[in-house]
Amino acid sequence: MSIKNKNIIVGISGSIAAYKSAELIRLLVKEKAMVIPVMTKNAAEFVTPLTIQTLSKNKVYVDMFANNFDWEVEHITIAKKSDLFLIVPATANVIAKIASGIADDALTTLVLSVKCPVVICPAMNSEMYKNPLTQKNISYLKKLGYYFIGPEKGELACGDENIGRMSEPVKIISEISKIL
Ligand SMILES: Cc1cc2nc3c(=O)[nH]c(=O)nc-3n(C[C@H](O)[C@H](O)[C@H](O)COP(=O)(O)O)c2cc1C
Repeated sequence: MSIKNKNIIVGISGSIAAYKSAELIRLLVKEKAMVIPVMTKNAAEFVTPLTIQTLSKNKVYVDMFANNFDWEVEHITIAKKSDLFLIVPATANVIAKIASGIADDALTTLVLSVKCPVVICPAMNSEMYKNPLTQKNISYLKKLGYYFIGPEKGELACGDENIGRMSEPVKIISEISKIL
């Protein structure tokens, strides 16, 4: 697989599907990718930084202003060495922020800083996904060259059977191998 030895930033945002990012990271590490995990503060409500840190075997980047890093401007250092930026799961909020160029946390600041391909895996309630604002943001980002994987149709956390379900980790890994 072409993900071996690649530096992959895994950005996790505050969706109920955040638990799936733990399995995805486990699979990436198994394939010998270097995983650099970044979480929004809301993502940490769904899955703990300790879980992500342990599975990724790397420090988790949540707070840009935490005074526990080296002298470098850390987001620029991370951005320069990344081969791929995977946002999994991507909330409607994070997609909207990226489409607007907003950089108000570690994840969105990093997105603006990287030159590598950015792959977005949306997960949300079907009404949020179908909302014209979300659709407009997705179309715009696709036009700019951002990659999207999913969402899929299936059972959602709210109980509905509809579009909005995050793609499964195995499918995401297969798709990013092609992109890399
Ligand atoms: C239980 C629960 C589940 C949620 N699931 C989703 C989701 O799957 N997708 C989504 O876009 N927002 C979801 N949200 C709303 C987001 O957490 C909210 O919009 C938040 O501001 C996102 O922050 P972030 O994008 O900075 O991580 C959920 C909220 C709660 C309380």
